[in-house]
Amino acid sequence: MAELGIDVNKASHNEMRAYVCGQCHNEYYFKKKEDGRVHMPFANGLGPEEEWKYYHDGHDPKFDADWVHPDSGAAMLKVQHPDFECWTDSVHALNGVTCVDCHMPYMRKDGQKYTSHWMTHPLKHYDTGCAKCHDESYETMLHRVQTINDNTFKILRIAGQTTARAHKVIRAAHFAGATDEQLAEARQLVREAQWYWDWVSAESSMGFHNPDKMMKSLGLSIDAAHRAIESATAAVKGGQLAIEPMPTEPFTDTKFDDAIKPGMTPPAQAPAQ
Ligand code: HEC
Ligand code: HEC
Ligand code: HEC
Repeated sequence: MAELGIDVNKASHNEMRAYVCGQCHNEYYFKKKEDGRVHMPFANGLGPEEEWKYYHDGHDPKFDADWVHPDSGAAMLKVQHPDFECWTDSVHALNGVTCVDCHMPYMRKDGQKYTSHWMTHPLKHYDTGCAKCHDESYETMLHRVQTINDNTFKILRIAGQTTARAHKVIRAAHFAGATDEQLAEARQLVREAQWYWDWVSAESSMGFHNPDKMMKSLGLSIDAAHRAIESATAAVKGGQLAIEPMPTEPFTDTKFDDAIKPGMTPPAQAPAQ
């Protein structure tokens, strides 16, 4: 945070209601053979593109990859759960609504006011959470959240399938005689494609925290995956590769299946802890 010019010690009470959660609910990495401390790629800003730039430009000379993909041989990054960065420029954040407003609503028991520590799907305590600010019925809001979930899930599947295909094409190009040097660009592109896919996949809200930001990340993923495929194909003499065609079937009628279902009534109060 200090790298972003934010002094957490001077944060307001409201800002702390997100920073506290952001300590763990964010993207981070560990350096190899290092102090074992957690590091955050925040120097350029809090988004998938800014964090990609952090890794891509080699901001930290002591870290370059989490693992190597067995199909393509590309050095990969694993995204953790960038809930904080996703939320940070959402409609809610811009209106001062923090994690705590939705996830830890105030409640009363025996005359005491306290925040719920039942960390769960916020629609399970709709009346004490969302409904404090929104007039919509529970059903209307459930439908809005599910529509965001389904749209995100569908495009996430497309980005994931296209990225998986890019790994396979690079593998096929390798066995068709393309050299590591010729495949360097394709491997860099598939690493980028998977980064943008994973940013959404690893984030916890299936799009809800900031739908626009997530769709942008998935668009960037699909674009990079296609460019990886083109680059790997061009690396093979004649540009011909024996690869199965892209599957189209799994892309139709894809629904995100979460625990919350229409008709499920939100309990009035969280269970005792
Ligand atoms: C010290 C690290 C840490 C902090 C700080 C933290 N969390 Fe978590 N949180 C976790 C971990 C780890 C899990 C996953 C637990 C599991 O999978 O069982 C989790 C899970 C959750 C879940 C999902 C629970 C479920 O039903 O699966 C929610 C929602 C959540 N946290 C919200 C918050 C909010 C809101 C804050 C800030 C008020 C916060 N967390 C602060 C580490 C943290
Ligand atoms: C406007 C309300 C709102 C705000 C603000 C908000 N969340 Fe959420 N969050 C949700 C909703 C709704 C879901 C469930 C999304 C879904 O299923 O589509 C969710 C899901 C989650 C989950 C997964 C819960 C599970 O059961 O697996 C975690 C973890 C989480 N949020 C953490 C955070 C953190 C950390 C912040 C702040 C940086 C935050 N949220 C801000 C509404 C909010
Ligand atoms: C503390 C107040 C507050 C809480 C709690 C809250 N919201 Fe909001 N929400 C807002 C504000 C303010 C806006 C922006 C309204 C606007 O610009 O018209 C908003 C906007 C939205 C939007 C429209 C987003 C867009 O891109 O236009 C949705 C959907 C939404 N909220 C869902 C939820 C859900 C679901 C919950 C509970 C999990 C929730 N909100 C909790 C204040 C809140």
